[in-house]
Amino acid sequence: MVFRVHFRRENRTIHVGSDTNLRKACLSSGLDPYPLLGGLLSCRGKGFCGTCAVQAEPAEGLSTPERREARWLSSHARELPGLRLSCQAKVTGDVTITTSPDSRPAWRQHTFYSGRAVRSWEEAAAGGESAPAPSNDTGSDN
Ligand code: FES
Repeated sequence: MVFRVHFRRENRTIHVGSDTNLRKACLSSGLDPYPLLGGLLSCRGKGFCGTCAVQAEPAEGLSTPERREARWLSSHARELPGLRLSCQAKVTGDVTITTSPDSRPAWRQHTFYSGRAVRSWEEAAAGGESAPAPSNDTGSDN
């Protein structure tokens, strides 16, 4: 069975067989599922980095997320319905894909690149908890 995959931003439609990996279908058609430089920073389809995230509509057009993808989605896709990892999703029906679906590039949702995995210098120096914000109070009674 052949399904139609339409890429909204690129205004391009490709036809793929049932259960075709979406990332591979993109790349073999000259379409880039990654935002700018995302492919360089990617895990190359292992389902860890999130740089290949796309938005799919309807959800039934892609396979049900398996364990690795479901784990990634549970921590990254709360505010964006239809978000999928193209490297983990298989085409199971006609679907419309939005690449780089967030206003932020998808790779910035990764905990490392978004800065959420990086502690501030104050936190590191304090051994965990962040230090209180600096105060403008000079302590003088002028
Ligand atoms: S390429 Fe890394 S999660 Fe898809």
